[in-house]
Amino acid sequence: MQLDLSEEQVQIRDAVRQLCVSEFAPHARRWDQESHVPRAAIERLAEQGFLGMAIPEAWGGIGYDSRTITVVLEEISRVSAALGIMIAVHNSVGALPVFRFGTDEQRRRFLPPLVSKELGAFSLSEPGAGSDAGAIQSTAVLEGDHYVLNGTKNWVTNGSHAGVYLIFARTDREAGSRGLSTFIVERGARGLVVGKTEDKMGLRGSDTVTLSLEGLEVPVSQRLGAEGDGFKIAMSMLDAGRIGVAAQAIGVMQAAFEESVKYAQQREAFGGPIAKIQAVQFKLAEMERRLQCARLLARRAAWLKDTDQPHTRAASVAKLYASEAATWVTHQAIQVHGGYGYVKEYAVEQLYRDARVMEIYEGTSEIQRLVIARSLLREGVAV
Ligand code: CAA
Repeated sequence: MQLDLSEEQVQIRDAVRQLCVSEFAPHARRWDQESHVPRAAIERLAEQGFLGMAIPEAWGGIGYDSRTITVVLEEISRVSAALGIMIAVHNSVGALPVFRFGTDEQRRRFLPPLVSKELGAFSLSEPGAGSDAGAIQSTAVLEGDHYVLNGTKNWVTNGSHAGVYLIFARTDREAGSRGLSTFIVERGARGLVVGKTEDKMGLRGSDTVTLSLEGLEVPVSQRLGAEGDGFKIAMSMLDAGRIGVAAQAIGVMQAAFEESVKYAQQREAFGGPIAKIQAVQFKLAEMERRLQCARLLARRAAWLKDTDQPHTRAASVAKLYASEAATWVTHQAIQVHGGYGYVKEYAVEQLYRDARVMEIYEGTSEIQRLVIARSLLREGVAV
């Protein structure tokens, strides 16, 4: 496995960093306060091709491999984790499934808007089916040339302004997780009702909504994959999504780490900068350790994906480690800042709030442990 970034990846990282620092960083705090990332930020990323990162050039994307995508997501999340998750969800579980499982007709119709301007949303969870995704109750009943969808979905990232929604619903009541199917639905479809926007602890700039499916008619031609394949489509796409969440967590950790080192060198106590105090040094060293480990794990999972090797376990390991590390690092960053870390004037207060959900969405830490344990018991512990 290649550990270092290639020359091209370094150039991409530096260009994204410059864009994010100069154009997004000055506004990221306001996006949090106003609970809104403006459309202009998405358009700016779209201009650079970042809505089509996972889509091959032949289909209008920029065809980045998974390692390069993690680099881009880390840089975006370093200045705005809210914008980071919007772009991560769009690329890995919004646009990519249409390419991966779509017919050529579906690709021709839905990929052009997805790679150029419209955000994708992934609508799997329901009020009664989060970790137990196979327990989805929303129904899709075939009536002639279309399905009629009814039910409630929640925790939908990008849900209030996505152009394309992937919606998972039950086509067979008896078949458990084998009875789910996936549907491509466009914004504005009659019966797709956008409900309340969640008032979240962190990632406040990214919208998370509830959707009601009220007799939503979806043509058979907009079913993604075969009837009954929905659960496997969702799970395999979450493998990519979880690498993205790891990258997002790394970006947040990097920001908290940099803020902590800077503050520790400036803040004086007991006759000198607090960076000279061993208790603070140990915190900084531990932050560095967790950051480096998380980055290596994410890079390894992405490399396995890029080389078409099984990567479910590695993606869960990376997501689990990086999200728990981000919680720890941002917690300690506040500790380094003392009382100042607890007020909104300092960046670490927001980073702490933003990091917390990474242990929850796209599979909780408990679900990642379950996926890892099942995999190692089934396939063995050999590396
Ligand atoms: N890739 C492909 N297929 C997979 C798979 C994967 N990674 N994981 C499982 N499958 C297949 C299995 O092989 C099995 O196939 P068969 O029926 O042919 O045997 C089938 O799926 C069922 O698998 P399991 O028996 O393992 O399923 P389970 O019901 O025990 O559940 C689970 C497994 C790991 C708990 C799963 O339900 C899960 O990951 N839950 C968490 C869901 C999640 O992450 N939700 C987040 C939603 S998105 C979000 O957060 C919002 C957002 O916008 C950011």
